[in-house]
Amino acid sequence: MSHVLAAPPPEAAADWTVPQHWERFTAADHARWRTLFDRQMRLLPGRAAPAFLDGLAKLDLADGVPDFRRLSERLTRLTGWQVVAVPGLVPDEIFFAHLARRRFVAGNFLRDERQMDYLEEPDVFHDVFGHVPMLAHPGFANYMQAYGEGGLRSIGFGALDKLARLYWYTVEFGLVETAEGLRIYGAGIVSSAGESRFALESPSPNRLGFDLVRVMRTRYRIDAFQQTYFVIPSFEALLAATLETDFAPLYAELAVRPDLAISAVLPEDRVFTRGTQAEAAPHAA
Ligand code: PHE
Ligand code: FE
Repeated sequence: MSHVLAAPPPEAAADWTVPQHWERFTAADHARWRTLFDRQMRLLPGRAAPAFLDGLAKLDLADGVPDFRRLSERLTRLTGWQVVAVPGLVPDEIFFAHLARRRFVAGNFLRDERQMDYLEEPDVFHDVFGHVPMLAHPGFANYMQAYGEGGLRSIGFGALDKLARLYWYTVEFGLVETAEGLRIYGAGIVSSAGESRFALESPSPNRLGFDLVRVMRTRYRIDAFQQTYFVIPSFEALLAATLETDFAPLYAELAVRPDLAISAVLPEDRVFTRGTQAEAAPHAA
């Protein structure tokens, strides 16, 4: 999500989509995808949420960069979603409008072999391996559509920056509590070998109970592993707290309350683990 380009590039449609040109991916691209896929599959059992692993098992992503036409056919049968290609980051309204129509926009390049561990812009591995398995989960599929509608609405309230934090701390970097312990489901975690371990095993970050307003007050950074993760009790609880809640009064409340620092821990937080790297004192920053 960004405003890098003001208008769709010449080859793109008015909604910024482009043909994926799947046939242009080389044997080396597919091999790199498989390397990334296999590496995550050694890490994710026992770490990723069952909902993510179930979705992954239904989607057939092991062999190489997926052809979005075939992937969309499969996903449409499961939850009515499609995956469409875009040239890179697209404007917020475009992104939200696609989500609201159950279209997930995916970048159309794959990281090269020097960036297997870290990249600054989401590539097709992050977008598809990271995000699409959760879109095969009916409840989460509804959450993402509603998020798109809510995103368009948030612009009218001048509250997009607040709502973006909800996406960040759930869709990208969320943890969920299960009977077996904490599990990862955020796309930014499950598509990263380093963060898949860090998010669950490092003593450094805070792991705090999810609270909707609390999350929307919390800043985030995009250039390092997270200092704070928020843990949802279940996907049902996340849906209940968001889908059926009118955010207008929350935006009004958020407008008059200070932001919270990334590392803040509040007296009312449910603390799963308090990070060794995080400062204890809450402060607005
Ligand atoms: N219900 C929210 C609103 O009133 C939108 C929303 C739905 C946000 C689902 C996130 C997830 O704007
Ligand atoms: Fe993402």
